[in-house]
Amino acid sequence: MHKPFSAIAVAAGLVASGLATFASSAQAQALDAAGLQVIDAAVNAVAPKMVNWRRDIHAHPELSGQEVRTAKLVADHLKKLGMEVQTNVGGTGVVGTLKGGLPGKVVALRADMDALPVPENTGLPFASKAKANYLGKEVPVMHACGHDAHVAMLMGAAEALSSMKAQLPGTIKFIFQPAEEGAPVEPDANGKVPSFGAKAMVEEGALKDVQAIYGLHVTANLPSGVVGYRSGPLMAGSDNIRIEVEGRGGHGSSPWNAVDPIVAASQVVLGLQTVVSRQLNISQEPAVITIGQIQGGTRYNIIPDSVEMLGTLRTFDEGMRQEALKRITTTAESIAASSGAKAKVRFGPVAYPVTTNPAELTAASLPALKLASGGKAMIIPKVSGSEDFSEFQKVAPGFFYFLGAPPKGKDFKTAPSNHSPLFDIDEDQLPVGARTLAALAVDFLQRK
Ligand code: NI
Repeated sequence: MHKPFSAIAVAAGLVASGLATFASSAQAQALDAAGLQVIDAAVNAVAPKMVNWRRDIHAHPELSGQEVRTAKLVADHLKKLGMEVQTNVGGTGVVGTLKGGLPGKVVALRADMDALPVPENTGLPFASKAKANYLGKEVPVMHACGHDAHVAMLMGAAEALSSMKAQLPGTIKFIFQPAEEGAPVEPDANGKVPSFGAKAMVEEGALKDVQAIYGLHVTANLPSGVVGYRSGPLMAGSDNIRIEVEGRGGHGSSPWNAVDPIVAASQVVLGLQTVVSRQLNISQEPAVITIGQIQGGTRYNIIPDSVEMLGTLRTFDEGMRQEALKRITTTAESIAASSGAKAKVRFGPVAYPVTTNPAELTAASLPALKLASGGKAMIIPKVSGSEDFSEFQKVAPGFFYFLGAPPKGKDFKTAPSNHSPLFDIDEDQLPVGARTLAALAVDFLQRK
């Protein structure tokens, strides 16, 4: 899809007038309508490429920590744009640095690159046929969370912002991170979990000197083009719960000669449900504990030695999170001990803090977000899903938001949600994502 010549001329004119717009940064003005028009023209010029990138990445999804092809695609693109590019940051992460022509602050934009062990069932012409190794098994792989769209949007924003480099008052870092979904890593003998994803990038200095970071997530469950945000806690902190209940095996006919870990584990599951309902002050924030996996036993009449349980904790407040971790441990250990069994409680490898948008950055960024979304920004309820964008927010003020992109013709209320084998997005929203990201970065650089 090519623009008619007249449209290109108009776009060129806007870029020229943008000189004046960006130069006004000396007076530290926030992004205005004229500035947005410059960004818009540059983003629209890249729109067809974003669709191609998204489809290419969608057809070649890579699991957490294995994003080699995607990272190369990204790094090659950023190098072609003339950026200084660092690769293999925190695994397969890529950081591109765009130094503007004018002095100023440093802002970062982030996209996650990984896909999921989900068998794609969308029937799209560019649907994934990829398979990869996940925990020792060959599994089908799919971009079922829309990270393919995030990468395409940020590649688009990078190209658009590069085209106005001379007028940019400051530096923009483009952070392409691996393993947002959590790499399949196990804690070592000391319970220490190797870093991955955002945390690993932070540890390798990806956010050094960065004064603010912005990121987004596409969702099929908001109306098309709607930007959903909130100040304060937006997405839950997430902790893996791992409990091993050790008893003493024996014959099912004579349990008095054994210590039954199945009964003890059952009591632990029910006991854990009292952590949220009886032990946490939920007038502060909600919380969720789910045990999703129980493994133990081999035969109907054998009491096994041990039972292993895996679960998840979701919280919206760091203090409550720490309290819940303590209470889960005490509750499981005490209940198991009451029957002579022993509960060993560990947490991880996933341990994501709460994704919280600082009030000050949210308020300051909102005018630009409203402008760039065409007035379609709205406050949304908290989300009990999690994001390791929170790791970036620990070291720099960070703002995270959702972009509604249900597939064309589908109702957002019933469209297959993220992580579904049927998940898909409306590619018309790719420029909206790129435009909002670019606008937030320029606005941040222009603000005092
Ligand atoms: Ni995701």
